[in-house]
Amino acid sequence: MIREVLASRGPQAAVRVQGWVRTRRDAKGFSFLEVNDGSSRGNVQVIVDESCPAFGGIEKFTTGSAVDVTGELVPSQGKGQSWELRAAELILVGGADESYPLQKKRHSPEYLREIAHLRPRSNLFGAVFRVRSRLAYAIHRFFQERGFLYVHTPIITASDCEGAGEMFRVTTLPLNKAPVGADGEVDAGKDFFGRPTFLTVSGQLEAEIFACSHSNVYTFGPTFRAENSHTSRHASEFWMIEPEMAFCDLEGDMELAETFIKELIADVMEHAADDLAFFDQFVDKGLLERLRFVLERPFQRVSYTEAVAILQASGRTFAYPAEWGANLQSEHERYLTEEHFKSPVTLYNYPQSIKPFYMRRNDDGKTVAAMDVLVPGIGEIIGGSQREERLDFLDEALAAHQLDPADYWWYRDLRRYGSVPHAGFGLGFERMLMFVTGVANIRDVIPFARTPGVAEF
Ligand code: 4AD
Ligand code: MG
Repeated sequence: MIREVLASRGPQAAVRVQGWVRTRRDAKGFSFLEVNDGSSRGNVQVIVDESCPAFGGIEKFTTGSAVDVTGELVPSQGKGQSWELRAAELILVGGADESYPLQKKRHSPEYLREIAHLRPRSNLFGAVFRVRSRLAYAIHRFFQERGFLYVHTPIITASDCEGAGEMFRVTTLPLNKAPVGADGEVDAGKDFFGRPTFLTVSGQLEAEIFACSHSNVYTFGPTFRAENSHTSRHASEFWMIEPEMAFCDLEGDMELAETFIKELIADVMEHAADDLAFFDQFVDKGLLERLRFVLERPFQRVSYTEAVAILQASGRTFAYPAEWGANLQSEHERYLTEEHFKSPVTLYNYPQSIKPFYMRRNDDGKTVAAMDVLVPGIGEIIGGSQREERLDFLDEALAAHQLDPADYWWYRDLRRYGSVPHAGFGLGFERMLMFVTGVANIRDVIPFARTPGVAEF
């Protein structure tokens, strides 16, 4: 791996490197190849001279071609690298002609999105996807070290956890001649699963089942939302991390959320330092300073009711005025975290009427034990709550949301047999990546973005 080669402690007589040529420069009697294999931002500089049999055909080693090099690792004379590789043997594994789109020049992220099959070979996306991989590892490490059980919740489901009706239908019925029942509706009973099924919007309801057997659990998987949002923070397919803890209340939930975010930041700052330095320099100046600031300070904690009062007293004209009982808009969230508090904020105790059925009703009868974590630059990064563990209140909430208790028979059973206070949250993996890299568009932190109208690759 080139990362290991570049970190070599001394010269080496024989080193082998396999990767892709970023650039070639020809001088009299020798050529330089910059070769990258994705293991780090740094390229290894390969020197090819007349002693190497491939030198005669060096013009075939173009930008984008794949090479296999063996040679001696020696201290570099030039600036910018400590080591260079003097090629003894150089093999062209796969050539690339001049139509290769990633020639050495700056490309816009929008253009690179159109060539998502090649963009991982660019500096920017090389770094983004290394950090993505590291962050996924850090997430598993965080929970595994704390004894949380990793649960795989289903991707195909019959229930709409968030109740927002933003689900993708899963069906094998022919679109043009689906069987129709007496009521004129498509007869889902004749479908593959014998009932209407969808791609999941959240693994929470199933995670609750496992919290009620294994105490502390988490999920980490793809989730889907068929919402027609055209923003830089919404994707139709995204990954979510959902811890769920038994014998835990909202306070414990907010504690975990804050510790979790801070530990993830500390992990990537340590283990992806080189890539974060790149983002700080080229993508979002001030990124590292902001991340350090977030690490050092406690998150602000404010109730929804206080937040609305702050917004109303702000003297700001918002496109949607802040009003108790209405959802906070992203302009409100950003005002609170970017301007008023200038730090991450955990908002809690939201009006019951704007939240899903499963959240625990507070004693005031108006609010539920919900919480959202907002961060500067993004807004909502985490949404969570303490769950309603009392069967009578749950049944009231199901009725209020016009949900059929029969459909939730297993969820209700959890409240009938050994019910416990429990709580959890969902962290949007891509939003967290945006936060730690400073990359401004969700389409640029997921390998193959799915957004309304886009499912290429
Ligand atoms: O707030 P949400 O909808 O909460 C839930 O799904 C709960 N069931 C979670 C739980 O309590 N276990 O989504 C959680 C997070 C959001 O805060 C956001 O970071 C992310 O998921 N998210 C999205 N990320 C990208 N694109 C979208 N369309 C997203 N919708 C939500
Ligand atoms: Mg939410």
